[in-house]
Amino acid sequence: MGRDEARDRGVREDRSKLVILQAGASRANVQPIIDNLNLDQVVMIPGVPPDQADDLMYRVAERAGLRDSLALQAGFAELYGHRKRIGKYFMTVNKRRDYQFIAPHSEGSSFVGMQLAAFYCNTNTTDGGETILLNADDSSTAWPSLREKARRGRIVGRSLAPHEITRARGLYQLRMPGDTLREDDQIISETPTEIPGLTVLDVLAKPSKIRSRLLDRDLYAYWDTVECVDADSAREFERLLSQSGLLKEPPADFDRRMMDDAIARRIWQSGVTYEQIFRCKVTHKLAPGDLVLVNNLTWTHAVANWTPSSGVREVAAAFA
Ligand SMILES: [Fe+2]
Repeated sequence: MGRDEARDRGVREDRSKLVILQAGASRANVQPIIDNLNLDQVVMIPGVPPDQADDLMYRVAERAGLRDSLALQAGFAELYGHRKRIGKYFMTVNKRRDYQFIAPHSEGSSFVGMQLAAFYCNTNTTDGGETILLNADDSSTAWPSLREKARRGRIVGRSLAPHEITRARGLYQLRMPGDTLREDDQIISETPTEIPGLTVLDVLAKPSKIRSRLLDRDLYAYWDTVECVDADSAREFERLLSQSGLLKEPPADFDRRMMDDAIARRIWQSGVTYEQIFRCKVTHKLAPGDLVLVNNLTWTHAVANWTPSSGVREVAAAFA
């Protein structure tokens, strides 16, 4: 099949990747959830009461060796104020503007490296707002064509003392010397720091693999920091929504570019199509009580737009 033909067909929906488990049985034993995540399945548990989503997430994270990461992510989100904690671990998702969609991404960046993602629905009465999970194809040859926006450090004329390495991490989220500027990094900007001789740089970096704890192998992830800088991703997602009949068309006087939640952050074009990097997708409109768990590294999450005032969508997310 040629590339254009693949593009016309779009990313294929694969319902065999979705496993539905019972809430009661899952509460009694989380092992089937782990087993299915180890098979890289999308796990859905309908009918989970609000006070039990946290408990299930905690037990799955614990079993996967991600308990500390779960607590850390909940704390960070609250600290930086971009999300509001609603349970112990679940947080509200960012507020949407009119007709806004969220293009597919694995939450976070290679720096944070979150392994597990969960979504819990309180209410979803809009005429859209479908959750679309796309399975990244690790064997794709397109990964070297993508770039991740990353932060680097450059030290000139001296080396950093141990206490300066600690400060660089705390003040600038730099892990020196690992985050030292690399030869193939494309520099976006460079800023001086309080540490003599050290500058921080925003760069476009070649993607690197990360270890998946659930699959026990190294793979590429389509991080938010990869997706949100690529103008072609917004184009691709709008095409996917349109092909799937999920795009809610804004009125003629609406600036269509504003449908893209990351419009302000896109700084380049990779030329990569979704058919090149995604193997398949699972589309599901979350209903109240639905809890969905996926490997954050292999399953990106995306949300279709909806007609403003058609209803209310309250979905919470937790990561570990
Ligand atoms: Fe997200």
